[in-house]
Amino acid sequence: MKLILFGMPGVGKGTQAKILAQKHGAVHISTGDMLRANIQNGTPLGTMAKGYMDKGELVPDNLIIAMIEEVLSSAKAKKGYVLDGFPRTVPQAESLETILWRANVPIDKAINIVVDEEEVVRRLSGRMTCPNCGAIYHKYNQPPKVENTCDSCGHVGLIQRNDDKEETVRHRLEVYHKNTEPVLQFYRNKGTIVDINGAKSVEEVTTAIEQVLQSARA
Ligand code: AP5
Repeated sequence: MKLILFGMPGVGKGTQAKILAQKHGAVHISTGDMLRANIQNGTPLGTMAKGYMDKGELVPDNLIIAMIEEVLSSAKAKKGYVLDGFPRTVPQAESLETILWRANVPIDKAINIVVDEEEVVRRLSGRMTCPNCGAIYHKYNQPPKVENTCDSCGHVGLIQRNDDKEETVRHRLEVYHKNTEPVLQFYRNKGTIVDINGAKSVEEVTTAIEQVLQSARA
């Protein structure tokens, strides 16, 4: 499975990427998770990225591209990958073409998960994540089995992301329309992108993505 997941903030890219990567033995490559790990570990990249992320702005392309190139060129990416949150600008998409060509790991498909903006704001305002393993929950849609405790790793103390405040979410949506929508057109011109309805249950969305991949292979 060599897949790119697109969509506005909060459509469920991370949720789907984790399920698909685990099920199909692929590596989940989330630029957001990688940046948050850098912030948590106090690296120079994390220090540079934090200001942009807290404001809902994009981190500069050169920092992101260097980070992605390293992981896509690794041996584990050869077995399959799910890209989540990258590319987000046209220069990132153009660089990705070169990186994938050099590493000889071309994509099977790009999937655009479509959900309306008000639903996205509702989803993000109720999102909780595990700071230990990155598992994603929602207060109402997908609560953990035991309150405030991660089902996956048992960590107690789920957190709300800094950038999930409504005002910041609305700004992230503006940034998405300005910088990331042109990337969809880039893939539409290449004929590699398929839209799927993300306003269904998590399981139904996973099935819809798998069906697209199956028909791409047929
Ligand atoms: P990033 O972490 O990539 O955030 P994002 O793209 O804004 O996406 P989200 O993680 O907010 O949402 P998601 O689509 O993954 O939804 P999720 O599955 O969590 O980026 C954060 C920041 O990092 C950026 O703003 C930028 O600063 C920087 N950055 C990252 N990549 C960059 C790049 N390439 N270039 C430059 N800067 C970059 O689900 C959301 C909620 O909905 C959860 O609560 C979940 O439980 C719930 N949910 C999921 N699916 C369903 C469903 N089917 N039904 C009901 N609820 C659902």
